[in-house]
Amino acid sequence: MNEQQRKEQSQIKQTDHPTDGKSGKDNIERIKSTTSDEMIAKYFQTSYQPPDIKKARKRRKEDVQFHYDFSIPEDMANIGKGKKFLIRTYGCQMNEHDTEVMAGILTEMGYESTADTNEADIILLNTCAIRENAENKVFGEIGHLKPLKLEKPDLILGVCGCMSQEESVVNRILEKHHHVDLIFGTHNIHRLPHLVKEAMFGKAQVVEVWSKEGDIIENLPKARNGKIKAWVNIMYGCDKFCTYCIVPMTRGKERSRRPEDIIQEVRHLASQGYQEITLLGQNVNAYGKDFEDMEYTFGDLMDDMHKIDIPRVRFTTSHPRDFDDHLIEVLAKGGNLLDHIHLPVQSGSSEILKKMNRKYSREEYLELVRKIKEAIPNVTLTTDIIVGFPNETEEQFEETMTLVEEVGFEAAYTFIYSPREGTPAARKKDDVPEEVKKQRLYRLNELVNKQSAKSMKSYENKVVKVLVEGESKKDPNVLAGYTEKNKLVNFKGPKSAIGHIVEVKVTEAKTWSLNGEMVEKTVEVN
Ligand code: 5AD
Ligand code: SF4
Repeated sequence: MNEQQRKEQSQIKQTDHPTDGKSGKDNIERIKSTTSDEMIAKYFQTSYQPPDIKKARKRRKEDVQFHYDFSIPEDMANIGKGKKFLIRTYGCQMNEHDTEVMAGILTEMGYESTADTNEADIILLNTCAIRENAENKVFGEIGHLKPLKLEKPDLILGVCGCMSQEESVVNRILEKHHHVDLIFGTHNIHRLPHLVKEAMFGKAQVVEVWSKEGDIIENLPKARNGKIKAWVNIMYGCDKFCTYCIVPMTRGKERSRRPEDIIQEVRHLASQGYQEITLLGQNVNAYGKDFEDMEYTFGDLMDDMHKIDIPRVRFTTSHPRDFDDHLIEVLAKGGNLLDHIHLPVQSGSSEILKKMNRKYSREEYLELVRKIKEAIPNVTLTTDIIVGFPNETEEQFEETMTLVEEVGFEAAYTFIYSPREGTPAARKKDDVPEEVKKQRLYRLNELVNKQSAKSMKSYENKVVKVLVEGESKKDPNVLAGYTEKNKLVNFKGPKSAIGHIVEVKVTEAKTWSLNGEMVEKTVEVN
């Protein structure tokens, strides 16, 4: 994208201020004086596009451009020397990984990280829009940070992530939260150095939210959280348009990274000693469908991962619709491809699935599960479920309960449906009272807990392989890590085991974790 196009798509809007340059005093004046009407009028002179499902559906595939030329502008390279940043992350793994990228960029600009808000010169809230309560938490935090900003006017307070892709959110911040200096979207992360500069030296709130989403920026720096496990993006966006979900609007269209870039990143992580990678995408099974010059699917990518010398490869999240036979065949090879599959079902009722636009029925989901279990007999399945979708009947909810039992999920993330502005389901009238939705969630959780406890019990007296991540939060004498099937294990062992895969004999099962004793007492440190 050239500078002209960038300008056209940019949402940067500066409001005028009578003085030159920005000092702490100017900043406070702006917070106090700018009226919201002024802000909004100026802001909407820009080309900002709110989430619009009709427009989003029409987006074209051929626009994906790859950029390998990211660099920090010279004048920003040392701007953070002696200063600190703090990024608070809400939501999914995709956001966690975006935070690692932003931390990487800020580190290259000379900033150091801190966990203390009082010490920070930049605070970014990397937000999640998936449900209303996620948004409420962020607005609560924005409010809590106001006294700090008033006390420290040079502090740069930014809001980024999925919420900043929503018109209503940007509106509300401009209207009510003048102490926020910077709002930028999920397609603008690589612009962070420029945005920080604008916020630092400009005189107004900086808003940059591109509705354009075609680009993949390859060589962004990453400050990874730890040296044992790493996230690797394989694709961005989602084109599935489930009727309840805001992600296709906040994260844009499906676009896959080139396999050679992914393979190179994973090889590099392996050579640095990482033990586990998780391939990330909103719908990883759609990987490669947007390639116009080659046939290369998620199954092919997993086959290539299988050949890399890294002990554990996971992926999230899958969509049942795109889970093909080739992928099942590849996963059945085992090795570093682990026998745990997270396969969101969302509902056990074919009627609700249709209303959700999930593009599979209960029967098709169960058939997929049958095929997976046949190919990988020891597989562990986990899932995501929404209860209380508009007008869900008691019978339809019961179908979810029976499906959970039939599949035997060992864990599930369960949610009450939350209407999201701009999505088709949010326009539906809903006759299910909130209290009934809560009860359904409670009943579902009881069932999931029972199944989890049962699966945990089956590990008692067995030996499991645990990738040791560190000391347990509750007791520094206890080590904690995860099995291949992603079960949390706490056990006593030497600190030298951290970062290694060790064998642990399970002595006690709890609902969500296992206690054990390490089998190998000596660990080679390589
Ligand atoms: N309300 C409740 N849950 C939702 N999810 C996505 N959108 C909504 C919504 N509007 C859940 C789905 C998805 C998970 C990440 O969040 O179960 O798989
Ligand atoms: Fe949302 Fe996942 Fe459906 Fe995409 S596949 S629309 S991210 S629930």
